[in-house]
Formats: sequence, C-alpha cells, structure tokens
Amino acid sequence: MIQLIKRYTFFVAAIFFSQLSSAQKKAPIKPENKDVFIKSLIGKMTLEEKVGQLTLFTSDMSVTGPVMRDSYKADLQSGKCGNIFNAYTPEYTMKLQKLAMESRLKIPLLFGYDVIHGHKTIFPIPLGESCAWDTLLSEQTAGIAATEAAADGLHWTYSPMVDISRDPRWGRVAEGSGEDPYIGSLIARAKVKGYQENIGSNSSVLACVKHFALYGAPIAGRDYNTVDMGYQSMYNVYFPPYKAAIDAGARSVMASFNEINGIPSTANKWLMNDVLRKDWGFKGFIVTDYTGINEMVHHGNVADEYEGGIAAINAGIDMDMQGAVYYTYLKKALDEKKVNMEQIDLAVYRILEAKYDLGLFSNPYKFCSTERAKTQIMNPSQLAKALEAGQKSIVLLKNQNNILPLKKTGKYALIGPYIKDKRDLIGNWSAAGDWTKAVSLYEALNSKIGSSAQLIYAQGANTVSDTTLIKKMQIQAFITPRSDGDLLQEALIAASQAEVIILALGETEGMTGEAASRSNLRIPANQIKLMEALSNLNKPIVLVLSNGRPLDLSWENENMNAILETWFLGTQSGNAISSVLLGEYNPQGRLTMSFPRSVGQVPIFYSAKNTGRPYEENQKYTSKYLDIPNTPLFPFGYGLSYSQFSYSNLSIPKKAFKTGEKIELSLTVSNSGKIKGIETVQFYVRDNVGSSTRPVKELKRFVKLELNPGESKNVVFTISSDDLKYYNYELQHVFEPGEFTLFVGKNSSENESVSIHIGE
Ligand code: BGC
Repeated sequence: MIQLIKRYTFFVAAIFFSQLSSAQKKAPIKPENKDVFIKSLIGKMTLEEKVGQLTLFTSDMSVTGPVMRDSYKADLQSGKCGNIFNAYTPEYTMKLQKLAMESRLKIPLLFGYDVIHGHKTIFPIPLGESCAWDTLLSEQTAGIAATEAAADGLHWTYSPMVDISRDPRWGRVAEGSGEDPYIGSLIARAKVKGYQENIGSNSSVLACVKHFALYGAPIAGRDYNTVDMGYQSMYNVYFPPYKAAIDAGARSVMASFNEINGIPSTANKWLMNDVLRKDWGFKGFIVTDYTGINEMVHHGNVADEYEGGIAAINAGIDMDMQGAVYYTYLKKALDEKKVNMEQIDLAVYRILEAKYDLGLFSNPYKFCSTERAKTQIMNPSQLAKALEAGQKSIVLLKNQNNILPLKKTGKYALIGPYIKDKRDLIGNWSAAGDWTKAVSLYEALNSKIGSSAQLIYAQGANTVSDTTLIKKMQIQAFITPRSDGDLLQEALIAASQAEVIILALGETEGMTGEAASRSNLRIPANQIKLMEALSNLNKPIVLVLSNGRPLDLSWENENMNAILETWFLGTQSGNAISSVLLGEYNPQGRLTMSFPRSVGQVPIFYSAKNTGRPYEENQKYTSKYLDIPNTPLFPFGYGLSYSQFSYSNLSIPKKAFKTGEKIELSLTVSNSGKIKGIETVQFYVRDNVGSSTRPVKELKRFVKLELNPGESKNVVFTISSDDLKYYNYELQHVFEPGEFTLFVGKNSSENESVSIHIGE
C-alpha cells in the first residue's frame, strides 16, 4: 500500500512538474504568467511544504552561529526546508539542490551566504572601502562579489549591511559605511545595484539589506544590546540608508536583533508593515537574523518560541533563519487560529517570486557551473579591482615632514605582527576568501624594493598578549606566538640597524565584526609596549595600521612620524599598502567615521546637535569635558595626500533664494603640491533654525577632483530646498525656509562658509 501511495505521489508530482516546465518554456515570461505560475504552485502545496519555503537552515559546510539542526538534508528531500545558507561551490550546491529535486513539488532551493566584502577575491572591509568615497567602486566590487558568488553556486548575499554606526566600541562598525546617512545611502544604493544588476542571469545575486533597523546603535557599543532611539535620529540619520537600498530595488531585508521602542524588529509590525512595506513600498521578502525569533524569549516580549513565531509572521517576517520556529510551530498556530493562511501564502509567494526571478524554476542548477567557477573567480581583472579598492581605501592620517613616500633605497626595519600576517588582512566576514592567497606587506615590499633597499624584519610582538586569545587564534594564525619579551628584543636590534622603521600594528580580524565589541579603543597592550620602546630610539617611524574600527590614536599621533590607516584591505593588502608607502600611489581616502581622542568621547560624530550650552572655552557651564577637547582626533572626511590642495574663490550668485530655486555654490581648488593627486571636496549645510533642532553640519554633496601639480579646477555644487528637507517632530518630511550656512572644505572640521536665506 505504502509503495502504491509513493508511486502515485511520484506520478502526480511528475505531471505537475512537467506542466510547470512547459509553462516556463514560454519565453520571455510575462509577469502575469509568473503570478499565475506561483499562485497555482501555492495552490498545490501542503501546509508543511509552505512552511518549508519559509524555513532557512544552515548547511554543515560552515556556520556563523549556534547549530540547531543537523537533519536538514532529510528536510530538503521532503520539502520541509526550502532555503539553505552557508553552502557554496557548484558541486556542493548541486548535491543539495538534487535533494530538493527529490521532493514532491521539486521547488528549487535558494542558497544564501554572507558575501560581505567579496566572495573569493576579498575587497577591503566595508568601513575601509567607504573611505574611498567612490560609489562606482562600491558598485563594481559588489558586482564582482556577485559574479564570483553566483559562479560558486550562490543566489543570495546577506549584504549590504547599511547600519549607521557612530560608536567604534561596536565591532560591527567594520561591516558598514560609517557614521553619515548621506554617504551611507549612496553606498547602500551602489551595493544593491552591483549585486542585483542582472537578476535572472547567472552572474547576479539577490541583495539582503541588513540589519533592519537601527542595529548600529546598541547602548554602550555592546553587540546585541538594547537600542533606545528617538524618532528624530531614526528618521533623519538611521533610516535613510535602508530606504536608499529599498529604492534601489533590494529584493530582501534582514530583521535586526535589537528592539525598537520595546518591540524586537523580528516582531515589529510598525517597522515591517507600516514603515518598510507601506511607506517605502518594499515588495520583496523579509528574513530574520540568525535565530532572531527564538531570541525574543530572552528579550521578554513573548513567553515562548510558539508565541515568538506567531508574533513574527504576523509582523510580516517571511523567512525564519535557522530557528526552526515556523518549522515547528506554524501548523499549531494555524490550527489555533493565531495566524491565517493568507499571511502564510503571502510569505510563500514572496519567496517563490524571488526564486522565479532568479530563473531557478527553469533551471535549478543554473548557478552550479564548475566551468564558470574556474574562469570567473579570482581572475586578473578581479584582482586588479581589489588592488584599486585597497589603494583607494587607505587613509593617510599623519605625514610629518613629508616622511612619506619612502625612497626605494635605504635601510628599513620592517617590524610588527602585521608585516607578514595574511589572515587578519582579509578581515572579518571574509566569506569564502582564502587568506593564504592574500599578499602580505612583507611579500610586496620584498618584491618591490627587496633588491634596491635593505629590509630587516622582526615580528616585534604577537598580535595580542592575552594568552587565551592567542590560543583561540592560533588555529589560523600565520605567525606562531612566541614570548613578547623575546620578540621585543629582536625588534630593537633590527631597528637599530635601520634608518626608518615601518611598524605594522593593529587589531586581529576577530577583534571586529559580530560579537567583537571592545571597551578599549587602543591597539593591544603588547603592541603599545613595542611601539613605545621603538619610539625611544628616536628613529623615524611610519606606523601602518590594520584594524576594523576607529581607534584611539592620541599617543600615536604625538609620537609617530607618519600614520597610515589601512583597515583590512583584503586579498591585495600588501600590494596596496606598499604602493602608498613607496609613492606609486598617492593616497586619497577620507574617513567616514570620526576618530576619538579617547574612548570617553564615544559615540562621537560630526553631525551633532549644538545643545543649549555649546562649548565655550572659558565658560564652565558649557557642554564639554574637563580633560579633553570636544573635537575628535581625526574628523569625519579627514585624510591627507602627498599633494597639497588649497581652496579659493568661494562664491554664491546671491544671498537669498526662493524655495525650489537652484542654489549654486562655486569655488576653485588648486594643487600646489609636486605630484598629481585626488582631492575630495566636501559640501556641508547647516539649517540654522528648524522647528526641530538641526545638526551643526550635514554632508550634502562631495566631488573627487584629480589635479596635476599647479593645476586649478572650478567646482560647482548645486542643491535645492528639496535637499534640505528633514523629518520634523511630527515626522513630516519638510523644508523649512530660513537661514542656512553652507560649508565647503577638506573635511567636516576644516572648511569655509557662507550664509544664505532660502524661502519667500
Ligand atoms: C549576523 C548576520 C548574518 C547572519 C548569517 C548573524 O549572526 O548578524 O549579519 O548575515 O548571522 O550568517
């Protein structure tokens, strides 16, 4: 009998599938056909199969959180799990897809993965790449990441991460584009475009905007901590990049772990339905973050997972990542009438639509080509783009007496754990990236000047002195930990033989990213000891930093001759850094997060409010610290070049403008240096009086100018009153006539200004 049922089921499924495929053969497929196709498929699905489409499990290939199920393969065959993450390579995804093709309705699996800053070719960490202020580059690196991921069996990336972050204690600042909503929005849009450019071809993947919303503002910078934010910041600062990504057509959104106004995002109807779907018109699907539904029990807004599942689906969350809550409880919730079938069908529809648009119903193995994996991954043009991205992301923070660029001859001591390191250089969330393929600074300098200069190497210190951490990192460490004392002595000997010290220090990749908050923003203590000992030698020191967050560099700024912020630059790290050190590349990066003078200043950001008692040096009762200035050490927008740029002729045609009228501000920028360079000219506005208080400055435009020595160029910035709209206390998006101050300059601190009036 069982045999008979099985055979009958197979027969029905075969007819059904053959009907599906003949429907799909009609090309091009019109949207109406898609709708008919998906609805008819849903009509044939059992509740269990529907829940399967709402379920996402990790494979056993690699995991990014607690593993909750290991029987997922059986679930693929029975249609109880329709989506997989942490599985890639054409061979492996094909193997899993074949299991799904054994299920009754043969609905193809969707394969997701955290392709955050490249898949195999690793680009700079997003915070680093944002310092390039180059949206075309952002789009291109996303495009390459998508091509490689798609050639490696993937359909969906959990990127871009567009959380505004203003607190460098939070380790995940490394994954985003920094503190500013304007630049954050431009990059969000560029990334979505890059990932999704040709959805339906086999070289694009679905983007997933995360983490919706406000995840970048956990109290005290501690990961997963509560977020408590007013509507002004929410609408004017934190929401814009998510909105920009949605406007750019992002196909999916990931709910954040945090709560918003007391309700975790995963159950937040207001956020998901009112803001995201109704106000912003989002049509794609929403996935939880890893076990986001289960975690609501800890948040304390639901009593158990059953209630959590009900709250999530009713809030419009379509897919449950790894928590198996929909998998376990949706049937019961339906039986008990806590959820309705329309809600479930709608969620299933959204997910099937994504699969349909990817072309998976026509060919479930479309992304499983070993041939493409061979030719479209880490090819020369992709590696060249990684070099360009690395070079553009580097920020020169200090260059006393123009010690940089270095000559290609001379005696250099190469000291520090990041001289030979490779693992850390590809950064956190480096997906399927292979750190052994990264170029170290040691390799690059040796190949460039190994024969013309004398290079003396000493490791100098371990990456961290804490032995537990060393143990943890030993697994992947490129360098075997030895006693810091011995390493320091060796370094002093190496340094004594050199004319200039190139000192490569920083954080390990594991010190940033998820669950990697720090309360101390200095480099690790053993590296500080090394740096102090070397500085006592009174030899010039060029400090090269590899790290994933703004650090407290006050001591370094006093004592080092040059400081190069290189983040974690990815596969081409060593080549990019050495090209800047040796003057083959003129640095052009500009910070997208303020660097504090000490951890006590954070969160610190340029676009602050003025307060009722703004800082005044000699007035006690004004907003300030007793021990340090209010200003950051290095402000947002800051970065030096080997060229010198000057600004002149700042002018506006008149002082008063009508609402809606074009406002043009022009100026001349000149390169008075000796070499060609790129200047990022920045344009900020202050709305002097608003019905709600307004920030002291907001970035509105920027332009990158390439200037030859002695060359000058005119720049014209154009805005209108529409660019000056903001969300007031009633959450209306308004332009309010009045006085405005326009600023142009090199960064958020150094600029010139003019005042204008806009309005009747
Ligand atoms: C992270 C997400 C990530 C997901 C899947 C979570 O822990 O917060 O950013 O996409 O894991 O790996």
